[in-house]
Amino acid sequence: MIKSSSLLVIAAMAGGFLISTGASAGDVLRGQEKSLSCQACHGTDGNSPIPTFPILAGQHRDYLLQSMRDYKSGVRANAVMKVIVDPLSDLDMQDLAAYYASQKGLRKIDAGRLKEIP
Ligand code: HEC
Repeated sequence: MIKSSSLLVIAAMAGGFLISTGASAGDVLRGQEKSLSCQACHGTDGNSPIPTFPILAGQHRDYLLQSMRDYKSGVRANAVMKVIVDPLSDLDMQDLAAYYASQKGLRKIDAGRLKEIP
């Protein structure tokens, strides 16, 4: 028997999912043009070679978009990324998320990386 509190949690999660998939998809080419200012840290195509900067290439679009929105609102606190996303519009962030999600990166690299971990 499922408790009613569990049902509430499931309903809330389903609601969040519907909201996130309702967002505009963003434009990959526009995102690429807007990604110039990201390259110094995240690599030319989002495959950052420097461990302190996360790999964005191949990450889920919704996760990338939510991260940028959270840096902007302050929900996710990071001084560097706050400065980066502050001048961006929501459309800019949607385009950037679409671009990085379309790149080959995490999905391709994962298997090889996991083998390297002792
Ligand atoms: C000066 C270096 C720098 C630049 C330039 C930069 N970033 Fe970042 N970015 C970071 C760092 C450092 C983090 C990790 C912050 C943290 O710990 O939350 C990060 C995190 C992120 C994340 C979250 C990744 C994750 O896996 O959670 C996204 C998305 C992101 N950056 C997008 C961008 C975009 C888009 C641009 C260009 C408009 C950009 N960044 C430019 C340094 C940078």
